[in-house]
Amino acid sequence: MEHLKPSFTKTFNKSEIDTRMFFAPGRVNLIGEHIDYNGGHVLPCALHIGTYAVVCEREDDQINLYSNNFPEKGMVSFSLNNLQFNAEHDWANYPKGVMKYFYDKGVLNSGLDILFEGNIPNGAGLSSSASIELLTAVLINEIFEGTESMTDLVKISQKVENEFIGVNCGIMDQFAVGMGKDQHAILLHCDTLNYQYLPLDLKDSSIVIANTNKKRGLADSAYNERRSTCDAALTKIKEKIADVHTLADLTLEQFELTKDYLTEVEQKRVLHVVSENMRTKQAANLLKEGKLSEFGHLMKQSHDSLRDLYEVTGNELDTLVEAAWKHKGTIGARMTGAGFGGCTVNIVKNDEIEDFIEEVGKEYNSKVGYLPSFYIATIGDGAKELKESEVIQ
Ligand code: GLA
Repeated sequence: MEHLKPSFTKTFNKSEIDTRMFFAPGRVNLIGEHIDYNGGHVLPCALHIGTYAVVCEREDDQINLYSNNFPEKGMVSFSLNNLQFNAEHDWANYPKGVMKYFYDKGVLNSGLDILFEGNIPNGAGLSSSASIELLTAVLINEIFEGTESMTDLVKISQKVENEFIGVNCGIMDQFAVGMGKDQHAILLHCDTLNYQYLPLDLKDSSIVIANTNKKRGLADSAYNERRSTCDAALTKIKEKIADVHTLADLTLEQFELTKDYLTEVEQKRVLHVVSENMRTKQAANLLKEGKLSEFGHLMKQSHDSLRDLYEVTGNELDTLVEAAWKHKGTIGARMTGAGFGGCTVNIVKNDEIEDFIEEVGKEYNSKVGYLPSFYIATIGDGAKELKESEVIQ
C-alpha cells in the first residue's frame, strides 16, 4: 500500500508531510449466521484485506473525500455543518455518517482531506461497509483525541449503519472489523458482547472464500423482513415464557412448548436460530480441541439450515457450496454473511486448493453460467493506525 501516500499527494495536490494512515479489515464469519440480532453466539474473524485511508487535517471546516475504488464519483466535498445523508454522495455516506456522530458530540472540529482505497470486493458480503465505518471512527478518534474505546467505536459504527444508512444490521460485522486479532477467530455473545479469542489453527488447511459474483444488496427488504419475523416470534414466545430475553436464549424444549403459537414461517426461522446458536457454541469447542472435520460437519448443517429454515441462500450459494462438498479437499463449506448472494467460506486442505479452485469454478460455471472468484483468506488484526514501518514493507 506504499503507493497510497503519493496517490494522496497527487489527488489533493498537497505535500505528504502531515498525513497519517489507517486500516480496517473486512471479515468472514465461520459459523453463527443471522444470530447476532437474535442475541446469540457468532464466530467471525477479521481478514487481511480491508480498507486504507490516508488523512490530513485542514484549517477550515471542509471535508474532501476521494476513493480510488470509485474514481467515477470524483471528489465528494461537504462542510461540517452539512452532514446530512445525500444519495448522490453514494459510498461517501458511510464515512459521512460516522463524521456526523463525532461532529454532534463536539469531537470532530476541523475539516479533513481523506483518500480511501480498499481491496475487499464490494457487495460480496465481506463487510466492506463496516470496514469503512470503523476506519473512519478509529481515524477521527485518534486524530481528534477522542476517548472512545474500540467497543464504543464498534457500537457507534453499527448505529451509523442502522440510523444513517438505514440498514438494520446486527453487531457482528462491526465487532469483527474493530476487534479482530491476527490468527484468531472471535467467539462473540452478541447480547452481552462478552467475547473470547480462539486461536485459528487450521493445521494443513486454509480458509478459501468463494464469491458467487452475484451482487447482494444488504438493504434488501429480505434481511429486514427476517429480523421482523424474529421480533414478532419473540414477542409471542415471551407471552408464554417470561424469562426468555432473546430468541437465542430459547432451548429446544422451550421451542417445542411454544411453537404452536407461531406461524409456520416463524417456526422455521426460530428453529434455525436455536439450532445455529447451539452449533456455534459446539463449533467453538471443536476448534479449541482441534477437531476440524467435526467443525466442518457443523458448517454443513449450518448451510442446510440457512437454506431450508431461514431461506437466505438461493441457487448461486447452494450451487457453490454443493460443488465444494463434492471436492475431496473440502473440510467445511457454507454460505457466509447475510446470504442472497455474496460469498461462501470453505476450509480446504492446502495441497488441494489449486484443484478445488479449478473444479469448483468449473462446476459453478456450468450450472450458473459465469465464474466465481476465489480468495485464500489470511486472518489479521482489527482496525488501527498504521505506523510508517507497517506501510512500507
Ligand atoms: C450481515 C449483517 C450482520 C449479520 C449477518 C448475518 O452481515 O450485517 O449483522 O446479521 O448479515 O449473520
